[in-house]
Amino acid sequence: MLNIVIFGAPGSGKGTQSERIIEKFGLNHISTGDVLRAEIKNETALGKTAKGYIDQGQLLPDELIINILASVLDGMKESKGVIFDGFPRTIPQAEALKVMLNERGQDVSVMLDLDVPEEELVTRLLKRGEECGRADDNMETIKKRLLVYNTQTSPLKEYYKKEGKYQYIKGLGTMEGIFSDIVSAVESL
Ligand code: AP5
Repeated sequence: MLNIVIFGAPGSGKGTQSERIIEKFGLNHISTGDVLRAEIKNETALGKTAKGYIDQGQLLPDELIINILASVLDGMKESKGVIFDGFPRTIPQAEALKVMLNERGQDVSVMLDLDVPEEELVTRLLKRGEECGRADDNMETIKKRLLVYNTQTSPLKEYYKKEGKYQYIKGLGTMEGIFSDIVSAVESL
């Protein structure tokens, strides 16, 4: 089983590269951000809760997001593995993922850390906000999302280094070039 955590700051290209990885390696995809946006669109109770956090650029509580992840994972059809996009974002989430995978006789295969300078992240997100109208792609919320990333999520790099699963990927450059580096990293596992 190939279980990939795709990691990086908001706008680092997690979703963009996930699409390519899924196609190449035949994996299932879990994007917690996409799950939450679908709940918001469908105006569910969970969606209403999620909107409050997302609009403020804050993370949802660990317990809530871990339960969502567990239920999506349970409902997935068999595949060659899963790409986890936007999860984990905190140490408790990483520990919960480890337990969930261990219960299935599996583990995280690799954590791909897409490294992109902050100035480029802001440029990409503002452009996407203009083009797609994603509600959290405005300057005020982007600043909060980056702060949350730097304080709460970035420590996961050390966590996965200690686990021997960390892989640096330069996330600046063409989408094709970055994907090629990802393929090399995954194929060398
Ligand atoms: P989520 O949807 O996960 O958002 P995010 O982490 O902020 O990431 P983005 O989707 O903004 O960026 P991305 O890295 O996927 O980049 P993309 O490929 O789209 O989460 C949203 C919110 O949900 C969170 O803030 C939180 O509130 C909540 N949430 C989600 N998961 C949670 C969790 N586990 N715990 C708690 N709360 C959670 O690319 C961005 C743009 O750049 C695109 O327009 C793309 O075309 C462009 N681009 C990509 N690659 C390149 C390139 N190489 N060159 C130029 N442009 C590029």
